[in-house]
Amino acid sequence: MSPEFSEQTKKSIAEIVARYPEKEAALLPVLHAAQREFSYISRATEKMVAGLLDITPAKVHEVVTFYTMYNRQPVGRYHIQICSNLSCSLLGARSLIDHLSEKLGVQPGETTSDRKFTLSLVQCLGACEQAPCMMVNFDYYGNLDATKIDEILGNLE
Ligand code: FES
Repeated sequence: MSPEFSEQTKKSIAEIVARYPEKEAALLPVLHAAQREFSYISRATEKMVAGLLDITPAKVHEVVTFYTMYNRQPVGRYHIQICSNLSCSLLGARSLIDHLSEKLGVQPGETTSDRKFTLSLVQCLGACEQAPCMMVNFDYYGNLDATKIDEILGNLE
């Protein structure tokens, strides 16, 4: 069954497309809108986006597979992306990754069985001054330690 955008996402996509002189230029933000709706970009979603922007599905696929911020598999309600790059690693990211894995009962790249959390390792989040850091959906958290992570997770419904 092909996915379908909600009315709200359709409206948002129309607004995005209207900001650009050519539809194709709206590809990245339209993919973000699609990901907000479905939590990931499936091949069916790629085709749907291609149709909306009058470009080939192959072109959409190239972009989706190039940028790591597009999920190609469904993710949980809370997508935890913890940085494993240099600054964060030097300041203890490895032990925080182990802490998250143990606490959630999943390895990086996995989703909890209740589909509440997905844990992913990512490269630099561009917030090295707050290392070690992570994102939960679209929110940044920095200067992390195990206690702060427990507090953040505890505040997620
Ligand atoms: Fe982790 Fe830059 S290395 S945010």
